[in-house]
Amino acid sequence: MLSLEVIRSAAERTRPHLETTPLLPLGSGRWLKLELLQPTGSFKVRGFFAAALALPPERLSRGLLTVSAGNAAMACAYVAHRLGVPCRVLMFDTAPPLKVEGVQRWGGRPLQLPRQQVLDWLARRGWEAEPELFIHPFADPVLEAGHGGAGLEIASQLPEVERVVVAVGGGGLVHGIGSALKGLKPEVQVVGVQSDGYELWRPTFESGAPPAGLVPHTIADGTSAPYDATMHERLRESVDLWLTVPEPRLRAAIPELASLAKVVAEGAGALSFAALEQLAPGPPTVAVISGGNLDRELLAALLAD
Ligand SMILES: Cc1ncc(COP(=O)(O)O)c(C=O)c1O
Repeated sequence: MLSLEVIRSAAERTRPHLETTPLLPLGSGRWLKLELLQPTGSFKVRGFFAAALALPPERLSRGLLTVSAGNAAMACAYVAHRLGVPCRVLMFDTAPPLKVEGVQRWGGRPLQLPRQQVLDWLARRGWEAEPELFIHPFADPVLEAGHGGAGLEIASQLPEVERVVVAVGGGGLVHGIGSALKGLKPEVQVVGVQSDGYELWRPTFESGAPPAGLVPHTIADGTSAPYDATMHERLRESVDLWLTVPEPRLRAAIPELASLAKVVAEGAGALSFAALEQLAPGPPTVAVISGGNLDRELLAALLAD
């Protein structure tokens, strides 16, 4: 687990650049932590600012490089823009157009490649041959400490919190938030959620090894990160319960969330909300709405379903 000290110091460093996101009451002991209201529409700026601001200026001036399904790419481009350095991102060629445009809007250079090519590059540590400073999109403790800032905020906004529900891809978000909350209140239950269209972690913990040949078939593209062995132990410590949301339920949850809470989340962002119905009511529970970058065409299709 990350220490409260590193999480607090990341929160201190990043404070001038970030929003303190609202905690919206849903009733019946449930709240939404609106991380989709951060700049670029997801929590990812927390980690990228934390990692970039920890660098000495001469390293930062080399520019930033990351690899991403989309939200990390946009966050990296935004952070680089704010800090006045260049940025390049390797993205899956299946990334939603909105996210590719989001990178370009902040002056970042997207390089779109087939998923397998991106994963191979990541597995062979391709960044070591590149000039820029590489920020890993999830398996970086400094970045994860930045995400932990959302956990500190939840604890101060809702001191009685007993349960937090978080969408999981690579695992950086849940490890950051879980470390912060458990550091402050060890009895808090951390629930990790994935879609049945890309269910990686529950089977991994059940069988001891990641499922072979897993290919994402989900609108929660933010949670389609590959298995990374360095995250295994971190997630074993920080996640108490794994839930799986069926893809049709996730699709229905987006319009439901829009009409119930006036919140338009993307697939990965709505996973935590969609999972709430699987939890027995009672303990004060926060669902982290982690991102809102939803393509208009997909939103229209979901509303028409
Ligand atoms: C909206 C959203 N939610 C959740 C996640 C999962 O975060 P992590 O990969 O840190 O588990 C991502 C990752 O990109 C995301 O974009």
